[in-house]
Amino acid sequence: TVSTQRAVWMPADVNAHWQPRSADSHKGTHGKVGIIAGSETMPGAAALTAGAAVNAGAGLTTVNAPRAVMPTVAAHVTEATYFARDDKIEPFYENKDGIAIGPGIGFGVQGRETLATLIDHFKGPLIIDADGLHMLTEMLENVREREHPLIITPHPGEMAALIDATPGEVNRRRFEVAETFAREYGVYVVLKGPCTLVATPGGETWINDTGNAGLAKGGSGDVLTGMMLAFVARYGEVQPAVSTAVHLHGYCADDLLQRGVPAETMTASQIVQALPDALMAVD
Ligand code: APR
Ligand code: MG
Repeated sequence: TVSTQRAVWMPADVNAHWQPRSADSHKGTHGKVGIIAGSETMPGAAALTAGAAVNAGAGLTTVNAPRAVMPTVAAHVTEATYFARDDKIEPFYENKDGIAIGPGIGFGVQGRETLATLIDHFKGPLIIDADGLHMLTEMLENVREREHPLIITPHPGEMAALIDATPGEVNRRRFEVAETFAREYGVYVVLKGPCTLVATPGGETWINDTGNAGLAKGGSGDVLTGMMLAFVARYGEVQPAVSTAVHLHGYCADDLLQRGVPAETMTASQIVQALPDALMAVD
């Protein structure tokens, strides 16, 4: 039998692991991140992920998107640079401190090839979310063999597809599902929902207690992915960065609710805009 340590990731943990910007830093110090997100039918996914990464402190944010959607995304995220989806992928990943792939990319052949290449060759922390997770089922052996940090961020439906179960089964035994997958494949599993779990390959599980139903709206997952990417790219350790992103993502939603934004009207863009206040609370 294996032992698992389970605990809530508390505000004190967020503070204890927080990485403040030093006065003599430069943009390279704070992480060069790459985001492979968006498509012609889902440009917003790229804008939300990239906007969240920029607001969460990434030093340099580069978005890999189809050429046709770049202007749309750039109109929303002025600070990012862009890389054409059709270009050879090596120059995109080789200088990055962290990469996230998946939000709104669809299920094309090219996305599959890029995902497999990153799992096999990208040496920094790699976050796989959304559509990227649906392609992952064919690449689980590559995942097992990867030596660098891999973080997956499924909601219960995406987790269910990964283990060939139903969302109901995942929800009935969510701790066991996340912990088993994390150990078996040597990855960090962020199993989302109310009280998101972060299960580590080493057998720890950190529970989140922030957030509310205002987050139950398309786009909020993309924002979490961008925030998490910014943190993993500049934290030395993966789990504190991941758990802190999950905590602050929920904190933003709770803060909005407290400031009078009803859960019904809360938007993913408002979560990105609430980030400064959330960071002020810890920075
Ligand atoms: N309480 C607290 N947090 C919540 C709640 C809730 N009731 N509901 C959702 N959340 C949080 C989750 O923990 C997670 O961080 O909001 C985020 C939602 O992320 P996703 O489920 O990935 O949603 P998103 O990707 O933004 O949009 C829906 O998922 O159903 C698929 O493919 C579908 O593209 C669609 C996407
Ligand atoms: Mg999602």
